[in-house]
Amino acid sequence: MSQSSGNGAVVLVGCGRLGSAILEGWLATETVAPAELIIVTPSQKPAAEAARALGARVNPHGAALAEARAVVLAVKPANWREALRPLLPHLAQSAVLISVMAGVRAGEIAEASTRSVARVMPTTGVAQGRGVAALWSADVEARETARALFARMADVVDLEREAQMDAATAVAGSAPAFIHAFVQALARAGETQGLSSEAAERLARGALRSAGAGAETGEPLEALIARIASPGGTTQAGLEAMAAAGDLDRAAEAAVEAAVRRAQAISG
Ligand SMILES: NC(=O)c1ccc[n+]([C@@H]2O[C@H](COP(=O)([O-])OP(=O)(O)OC[C@H]3O[C@@H](n4cnc5c(N)ncnc54)[C@H](OP(=O)(O)O)[C@@H]3O)[C@@H](O)[C@H]2O)c1
Repeated sequence: MSQSSGNGAVVLVGCGRLGSAILEGWLATETVAPAELIIVTPSQKPAAEAARALGARVNPHGAALAEARAVVLAVKPANWREALRPLLPHLAQSAVLISVMAGVRAGEIAEASTRSVARVMPTTGVAQGRGVAALWSADVEARETARALFARMADVVDLEREAQMDAATAVAGSAPAFIHAFVQALARAGETQGLSSEAAERLARGALRSAGAGAETGEPLEALIARIASPGGTTQAGLEAMAAAGDLDRAAEAAVEAAVRRAQAISG
């Protein structure tokens, strides 16, 4: 298996929560060779230092950016213009900009950079090579460059329209936190039914791992549910109670709607 998915350097701008996860995923899955990696970060980060120890360049002189074939923007939506401005004069015209930012339209980045732009919305599970990522670009080459950078560490889901990116952000990027919050609620419900808080949390976490393993098989969710819910059993009783209350659907709709509204507000 080759260590890189193309010729030329890959630049990561921003090494926070998501940037570090992307960096770890690239190295773990050998998507980008350390010698091809350039990291731009205002402060020292453990993931960047680990990559530096393997041969990546951290905050090199601007001239090094001329080799870049792709630049991944992993800063907060409010910071991308100031982060990109000093890099632009050094970048080749052929460099593709890949934004993993919520709510920033590709057209804004293309206009400011005069480069091709792809948008990717990954989960931090990319760090373990087990993420999911929504992908959109109007430019075929930019789309394929972005796909090659994420395909080994995420299930890449193509979107038909950029407008779908906000919903994808809610259902993928934000959703692991929604699911953890539900697992927390399950643990609390277990406590109400007499479990100690430690036992309830361990059991609920274990249930999440088991559900994750089921999801990894690729079987339809309906089949995964049916396998656990035997007719007349305890799971069936719980599922019927959730469906009757309607609260689960309402909570999911409210969370996704609020995340979409927030992404729209960020993009103005
Ligand atoms: N977290 C997620 O799960 C997730 C999922 C999907 C999408 N996203 C998107 O990913 C982006 C980053 O989110 P995050 O959660 O990783 O935020 P974060 O932890 O705050 O990371 C942002 C990083 O950007 C760095 N930065 C600020 N100005 C910079 C500059 N001029 N040049 C280079 N780096 C700069 C910051 O460096 P310092 O720490 O030194 O200030 C910080 O480490 C956001 O746009 C978000 O919408 C996040």
